Amino acid sequence: MKLLVTGADGFVAGSVVGQSSPSWTVCSLALTPVAYQRPGLTWHVFDLRDEERLRCVFKEFAPDAVIHTAAMADIDFCEANKEVAEAVNVGVTRNVASLCQEYNARMIFLSTDTVFDGKKRMYSEHDVPDPLNFYGETKVRGEQIVRGMVERHVITRLSLVMGLPVIGAGNSFLAKTIAALKEGREVGFPDEEIRTPVDVITLGRALLELACSEYTGYMHLSGMDRLTRFAMAQRIAERLGYSEERVVVKNPSAIPGRAPRPRDVSLNNSLARKTLKTPMRNLSDALDLVLVAQ
Ligand SMILES: NC(=O)c1ccc[n+]([C@@H]2O[C@H](COP(=O)([O-])OP(=O)(O)OC[C@H]3O[C@@H](n4cnc5c(N)ncnc54)[C@H](OP(=O)(O)O)[C@@H]3O)[C@@H](O)[C@H]2O)c1
Repeated sequence: MKLLVTGADGFVAGSVVGQSSPSWTVCSLALTPVAYQRPGLTWHVFDLRDEERLRCVFKEFAPDAVIHTAAMADIDFCEANKEVAEAVNVGVTRNVASLCQEYNARMIFLSTDTVFDGKKRMYSEHDVPDPLNFYGETKVRGEQIVRGMVERHVITRLSLVMGLPVIGAGNSFLAKTIAALKEGREVGFPDEEIRTPVDVITLGRALLELACSEYTGYMHLSGMDRLTRFAMAQRIAERLGYSEERVVVKNPSAIPGRAPRPRDVSLNNSLARKTLKTPMRNLSDALDLVLVAQ
């Protein structure tokens, strides 16, 4: 198996690269150098907007499968920087899709629950996207490109990803919460946006399984529990033995520059549970998994 991973210095990709089989050849594309090494793993550090460089990598490596995680994944940044969000989330996705089709590679695309408007709940793969922010818009367009251009594709929609970075850094909600709790600081989270968090270890395994499978189409990857970030942080505090009183409700309108967020984009993961060997977990099992993996 020859696997190519984009955004390999990112949070989710760290779990993919770190858990990939030692018998595979893995080509990791990153914007920032990462120290992690193992036999069969190579790193290429460049900006994916460099089309020629990307083409050279495909030509040299000829991947069997590509897990395309690279993106501008910060919702507020995308709202304020539409041009760069468009260039990376749409433009780079188009180039990766075109090369996957040309080299007959499976393409696993990472989309988001934020493609939905949040007016209903437990969205299935059949529900129609209607995003409320620019990040969601770029992801919908990425989905359409992948679906239209790549025969052997999977479009995964991820719920909020919870965990600690496996390799590299990453924007981890859990790491920030634990750091604040350890230092005795109060942590504030909105109590009105409902998600179905998936842990980063399970997610990495599911993406690797999809890279090897013959499945084509959409798939929602999410956990078994439906809850807000505030409730999640309370469960984390309880699990780690800190007082839940340190977790407070934060009004989202008090967060400057915050792009609109859908209220309830909980995802229905029945298809993933039916199709994958990787089990989707409840928050308690997911916390055990990510804390033990450290
Ligand atoms: N984390 C979540 O809760 C969540 C939820 C739903 C969907 N997703 C999706 O899952 C994917 C992975 O998210 P993540 O949390 O792992 O985000 P992340 O940690 O920010 O990873 C994204 C990676 O893409 C890289 N990247 C951005 N622009 C690039 C460019 N022009 N050339 C090369 N690399 C570039 C970033 O590099 P630098 O960091 O060096 O800039 C980063 O390593 C994204 O597609 C995201 O939209 C994530």
